[in-house]
Amino acid sequence: MKISAYIAASLDGYIAREDGALDWLSAPLDEPGGEDYGFRQFFDSVDLLVMGRKSFEKVLTLGPWIYGEKPVFVLSSRPVDIPATLRSTVGWRSSSPIELKREFDQMKLRGVYVDGGKTIQSFLADGLLDELTVTWIPILIGRGIPLFGRLEKDARLILIENRAFDNGFVQSRYEILPSKT
Ligand SMILES: NC(=O)c1ccc[n+]([C@@H]2O[C@H](COP(=O)([O-])OP(=O)(O)OC[C@H]3O[C@@H](n4cnc5c(N)ncnc54)[C@H](OP(=O)(O)O)[C@@H]3O)[C@@H](O)[C@H]2O)c1
Repeated sequence: MKISAYIAASLDGYIAREDGALDWLSAPLDEPGGEDYGFRQFFDSVDLLVMGRKSFEKVLTLGPWIYGEKPVFVLSSRPVDIPATLRSTVGWRSSSPIELKREFDQMKLRGVYVDGGKTIQSFLADGLLDELTVTWIPILIGRGIPLFGRLEKDARLILIENRAFDNGFVQSRYEILPSKT
């Protein structure tokens, strides 16, 4: 079972503006029939999404639900208000990454998609993220919600693949090595 993150970041390491705005990355992604930057292939490789509460709240504002019937766990320390139309696939969890990993193992999943800055950081800090794909957007936004945060130990990564797109996006896929104890 592989636990992966797939996320876009500004070149200075932010995943959203301070108020959560994604205007700096959404325009090229909105082109009809345009490049999807490997998203569909990645999405098809996972059986479940784990999303931080803040990302979930943001996704709900972006229009129709794009995750279909795929199960989604929304992480929050408090119960999350899930719209009635999504309750068959979206559930709330307040578990730690280690407890979630145990649950994924019991569910015999192939792949899990972890989304949201704080959420990715908590899986990274616990040494439970196996793969990270970052699509680097050639823009500096100066401040915002960071992709990465504090770590008690270094995390070492191996670059698996780098793809450059005509619009200047660069997508880097990394394997995250098990941390040394
Ligand atoms: N650029 C991109 O590709 C991309 C992708 C995804 C999201 N985003 C943006 O990123 C922003 C959100 O990121 P974020 O870093 O602020 O937050 P986030 O990871 O989406 O959500 C953080 C919240 O998730 C909950 N949480 C996380 N880990 C938990 C755990 N182990 N146990 C219990 N609760 C846990 C907590 O909720 P409570 O506070 O309720 O306890 C925490 O405040 C949004 O603006 C979104 O649009 C951008």
